[in-house]
Amino acid sequence: MALNFIAQPARKMSGEARVPGDKSISHRSVMLGSIATGITRVSGFLSGADAIATMQAFRSMGVRIEHEDDRLEIHGVGREGLTAPEKEIDLGNSGTAMRLMMGLLSGQGFDVRLTGDASLCARPMGRIVDPLSSMGAKFKTSNGKAPLTIFASGDDKDALDAIDYELPMASAQVKSAILLAGLYANGKTCVTEPAPTRDHTERMLRGFGYDVQTDGARICLRGGGTLTATDIDVPADISSAAFFMVGACISPGSQLCLTHVGVNPTRIGIINILRMMGASIEFTNQKEVGGEPVADIVVKAGMLKGIDIPEQWVPLAIDEIPVIAIAAACAQGETRLTGAEELRVKESDRIMAIVSALTALGIEAHETPDGFVIQGRGVAEHETQPTAIFTAAEVLSHDDHRIAMACSIASLRADGPIVIHDCENVTTSFPGYVEMANSLGLALSSMES
Ligand code: S3P
Repeated sequence: MALNFIAQPARKMSGEARVPGDKSISHRSVMLGSIATGITRVSGFLSGADAIATMQAFRSMGVRIEHEDDRLEIHGVGREGLTAPEKEIDLGNSGTAMRLMMGLLSGQGFDVRLTGDASLCARPMGRIVDPLSSMGAKFKTSNGKAPLTIFASGDDKDALDAIDYELPMASAQVKSAILLAGLYANGKTCVTEPAPTRDHTERMLRGFGYDVQTDGARICLRGGGTLTATDIDVPADISSAAFFMVGACISPGSQLCLTHVGVNPTRIGIINILRMMGASIEFTNQKEVGGEPVADIVVKAGMLKGIDIPEQWVPLAIDEIPVIAIAAACAQGETRLTGAEELRVKESDRIMAIVSALTALGIEAHETPDGFVIQGRGVAEHETQPTAIFTAAEVLSHDDHRIAMACSIASLRADGPIVIHDCENVTTSFPGYVEMANSLGLALSSMES
């Protein structure tokens, strides 16, 4: 049975909402809380399928975790306290869970087999296996992919060897996997990034009292230390807020306030890009919670113009590119994306998936090896009676949550219904998406087929 979305044409977005908790921070809260000493209390946890898979994984390794609504109580077992799971661990659709756990589990005294859904089992894991193998970790993969086994590295406390590694790609998952393995390494592990990527692992480790040194692009920590339980307030996920931000930008008359959103500088590529396109986006109520900057984001409709997306912002907006493509289609002039080859190995090949969807929706768009070119259909004068930009069509999500949600936003400027196929995975990152989208002005329904 497949779940499809039907997005009837909508006019504008208005209101205030707090989108669910940040996925990256939710995963990390479970992982670090589990290997800390003491009880970690988490609020704002994302109860979506991906982060739940991480929670179940740590439960299966002996960690008691109580979960109610968006709150967790994690009874940490200490750095050496995880125990062998009874069976293989299924991480569903979650690349972050698998890659970070490969790091954290490579220094344990037991074997563990990790698997996932068809999409996850098609994603490259060599980028993790290679550096971790040079630390002495042992893996058996299925041709560089999952299912894979991580073999026990011995009962020694600091079983792995520290490395000094230059990341070949700007990837927070790879960086984090090495740092988490570094907790179990003898000596000082360092990673150097080719470009800044999300730094939640470094920030959260410090929140657990662990010494992590950042010097420009180089991040180092020493193995063998202790994490001390702490309280974590997970902000709303800017990657989820991004859909509504673009929705408000492209539909005349819209104004939205998205509250308590994480605005860590390594995550605000979407804001930089939309502002460069001419969007009106303001931060209010700025504060810091648990080492992460948070703000309410006020977005108003406005005329967007096409841009060449600066390459240095791509890693800071990597998950938001599908919905940025929707904004680009509504802008005046051409938008070009380059330096984004990483998009080809996400939950789907996102360059192919979003360009195909836009083409089906009547937009002139084409792929390049590392990005896309989109001809915007926006018109210069401010529209009181907005014209349609997208033509009604059926589109494929390629089982990718972010492609599905991005396509639903196009309904704000469509001339008829958009049917989006295979939307089950929306719950991986945004449980309650349909209800929240409708409360802010969309006209979405879901149908099993
Ligand atoms: C994530 C890092 C990004 C991102 C993913 C979450 C993380 O992947 O696309 O959704 O939590 O570290 P890469 O680091 O592989 O680019």
